[in-house]
Amino acid sequence: MESVGRLEGKVALVTGGARGMGAEHVRRFVAEGARVVFGDVLDEEGKQLAAELGADCHYVHHDVTRESDWAAAVAAAQTYYGRLDVLVNNAGILRFRRIADMSVEDFTAIMTVNVTGAWLGIKTAAPALNAAGGGSIVNISSVEGFIGAAGLSAYAASKFALRGLTKSAARELGADGIRVNSVHPGGIATPMTASAGSGVDGNTFFAALPIPRWGQPAEVTEAVVFLASDAASYCTGTEVVVDGGMLTGAGY
Ligand SMILES: NC(=O)c1ccc[n+]([C@@H]2O[C@H](COP(=O)([O-])OP(=O)(O)OC[C@H]3O[C@@H](n4cnc5c(N)ncnc54)[C@H](O)[C@@H]3O)[C@@H](O)[C@H]2O)c1
Repeated sequence: MESVGRLEGKVALVTGGARGMGAEHVRRFVAEGARVVFGDVLDEEGKQLAAELGADCHYVHHDVTRESDWAAAVAAAQTYYGRLDVLVNNAGILRFRRIADMSVEDFTAIMTVNVTGAWLGIKTAAPALNAAGGGSIVNISSVEGFIGAAGLSAYAASKFALRGLTKSAARELGADGIRVNSVHPGGIATPMTASAGSGVDGNTFFAALPIPRWGQPAEVTEAVVFLASDAASYCTGTEVVVDGGMLTGAGY
């Protein structure tokens, strides 16, 4: 018997999909039967991925801080594939800086991409999800949505904020059949972490986790696919942590 994809028939919009975890979400969504519009500010990488995946996937230039880009991305999903069922707010930026060394511009840039971007996404996509009869929004937060770290004041503030945004949107949109949940990755091997430069010895840190290694993007994608799919039909406002046990406690 031919197996049916977990996202068969669904149309999804994924932000920050040109590389890293976003690109893995795009690939897996298409493999699970979804048709996907994805955006990024990295046009070359985005176009390459779209060319690789074929007709069930379409790339748009989409800076999540720009309202007009959001309107165009949602319109693209409706124009190319006729509807929108799923939004994955994945785009995010990280800059390690201690508060003393951080400018207001740095702080604002992180909050604008990570929080305002996701809020704009919910605002713009909700009417389209409603028109499709309901849907699912998945906000990519972090373990930094639960704990802080030196050098990550803005990043952690943004990822805590996504939890509040998720829960408020879940309450506002529930009556329209729109579920809103958050995913909280731990240390995942992507271009973001490769270039983050925290000064922390990653090997020692990760060796002390209950699952003593970095996570892979595909391991996070599993949680995103679940929340996007009808298998999560009674989940809204919830938090799925994919962190190798990082939040279980201190390493002593
Ligand atoms: N890698 C980790 O360990 C980790 C852990 C927890 C949470 N996260 C979160 O997961 C998400 C994906 O991270 P990643 O590790 O794949 O990082 P990444 O840097 O590899 O990918 C992020 C993508 O977002 C895009 N982006 C940045 N600013 C944008 C904007 N204004 N508009 C649209 N796209 C924009 C980037 O160009 C990039 O393609 C982020 O929200 C990140 O904060 C990552």
